[in-house]
Amino acid sequence: MREPEHHVRHPPDASMIAIRQTTEADLALVEAAESDPDTRRWLGDTGAAWHRAALTDPDQEHLALTSDGQIVAFAVVAGLRNPHSSVELRRILTVPAHRGRGHGRAALTAVVDRAFVMHDAHRLWLDVKSGNTRARRLYRSAGFVEEGRLRDALREADDSFSSLVVMSMLSTER
Ligand SMILES: CC(C)(COP(=O)(O)OP(=O)(O)OC[C@H]1O[C@@H](n2cnc3c(N)ncnc32)[C@H](O)[C@@H]1OP(=O)(O)O)[C@@H](O)C(=O)NCCC(=O)NCCS
Repeated sequence: MREPEHHVRHPPDASMIAIRQTTEADLALVEAAESDPDTRRWLGDTGAAWHRAALTDPDQEHLALTSDGQIVAFAVVAGLRNPHSSVELRRILTVPAHRGRGHGRAALTAVVDRAFVMHDAHRLWLDVKSGNTRARRLYRSAGFVEEGRLRDALREADDSFSSLVVMSMLSTER
């Protein structure tokens, strides 16, 4: 059964955002958003199989964020069954056409609230490519703290290496 949409407060520059489970029918939009070069270069693992696994894995949840009934962002959260209540924000992206208008911040706020309130997370963590200044600025301003850097952890398509910055927020820091 589809769970009801959960409305959350939002920053003043974003319209009301709602959160629901991503469905199989949404995956074409996920794929289109992720094949955009300004999205693709910032992501790690991807592809239809990766997303389908996230739709069905009880340890993960694949979320669609909507504004005025339109999907503006997607997020994947993992570690829902983690015994340490350490939950991972494994993916967040704004649909390219909706970027830069506050939807990313509103989506992040909604996902953070959901992790701490609905999933009772103690720690919410993520990794982000060190060159992704846009996302790092957003995470930092939302209250995530940098924990350290995984040097040259990812091999890129051109054989160069990217480092990952690990960031987290604790339930006491919300
Ligand atoms: C990162 C991302 C989710 C942000 O969403 P968005 O809708 O573009 O961002 P918003 O309009 O909500 O802006 C939120 C904050 O992001 C930062 N930001 C947004 N656009 C920026 C830009 N062009 N340059 C630098 N910082 C920027 C700012 O801190 C901004 O806050 P401010 O407006 O109060 O200064 C989105 O750009 C995206 O999907 N990027 C590609 C995928 C990605 O990098 N995902 C994260 C992987 S870890």
